[in-house]
Amino acid sequence: MITENMNCESCAFRNLKGTATAVIMRDGKTLLLKRNQEPFLGDWDLPGGYINEGETPEDAICREIKEELGVSIVGITPIKTFPGIAYWNNKDFPIISHAFLVEISGDIRLDNENTAYCWEEPRAVKKTVAFDSNKNIMEFVDDKFSISFPEVKELVKQLDSSARIQEYNYYQAVLDGYVAKEYDGNKLIGMGWIFPRRTLLRKQAVIEDMIVDEKYRGQGLGKKILLDLLRWAKENGVEMVELTSGSHRMAANELYKKVGFQLHPTNHYLLKL
Ligand SMILES: CC(C)(COP(=O)(O)OP(=O)(O)OC[C@H]1O[C@@H](n2cnc3c(N)ncnc32)[C@H](O)[C@@H]1OP(=O)(O)O)[C@@H](O)C(=O)NCCC(=O)NCCS
Repeated sequence: MITENMNCESCAFRNLKGTATAVIMRDGKTLLLKRNQEPFLGDWDLPGGYINEGETPEDAICREIKEELGVSIVGITPIKTFPGIAYWNNKDFPIISHAFLVEISGDIRLDNENTAYCWEEPRAVKKTVAFDSNKNIMEFVDDKFSISFPEVKELVKQLDSSARIQEYNYYQAVLDGYVAKEYDGNKLIGMGWIFPRRTLLRKQAVIEDMIVDEKYRGQGLGKKILLDLLRWAKENGVEMVELTSGSHRMAANELYKKVGFQLHPTNHYLLKL
């Protein structure tokens, strides 16, 4: 039971309350819900809510999504935490929002916490979405996730015509590493990925999926993308960068040697699971 004294003590400390927030993406747009309660009644908000006693942030976001959207969750990936301010009875207090990338399946059926839903481009709503923590989440999403996914698919086809990539996997990959991109105006014409990992011996990273649109090859873009990936690696304390390339990929092999990669005599094994 909370005594008067304990209550006063808890008032004196502005400790953070935990919340969990979902970023659900479709065709480059984020799912927003129209609030049916104060604060921010009638404003667009991200799905989520307070973490209940005894729940982990993951438990809370799974419960909130089932309650607010009535859908199943097929994937959940932590993004990061965002501090902010929430309101109750005209008082503000600090919160820490645990943001998750969430993949859902099924038709959305809203409960009475919200009156409508919509899919919006992060850039269009990042300044107006309810709560300062959500504004920062949307700023992050705009910075990291904004890309034309159909254009990514077109590029990847030029590397592997049989590859089938899911939008959710694209965002997961962004969270796991760094993607260097090249544009002609608004059109994505090249990209390359680097994924860091800590081994017992060193911080190492692997470069994957370097591609330049075939109409733009031979103009120095591949080299520019590769140097950008290596810049990121150095800035992030990576000590060794590795990559593999089929021997039939003449241009790629020449490019890697040109920037200083050395062929390493090792047996490269793959096991499909
Ligand atoms: C590999 C790839 C990304 C290179 O991109 P690019 O923009 O054409 O390359 P660049 O113009 O920056 O060339 C950089 C260097 O690569 C080498 N290179 C590029 N094209 C080459 C070619 N057709 N033949 C031989 N070497 C070539 C050259 O050393 C070149 O330097 P140089 O112009 O000073 O001679 C591009 O060819 C590509 O997307 N290929 C298909 C996908 C692929 O194989 N990806 C690699 C997966 S491991």
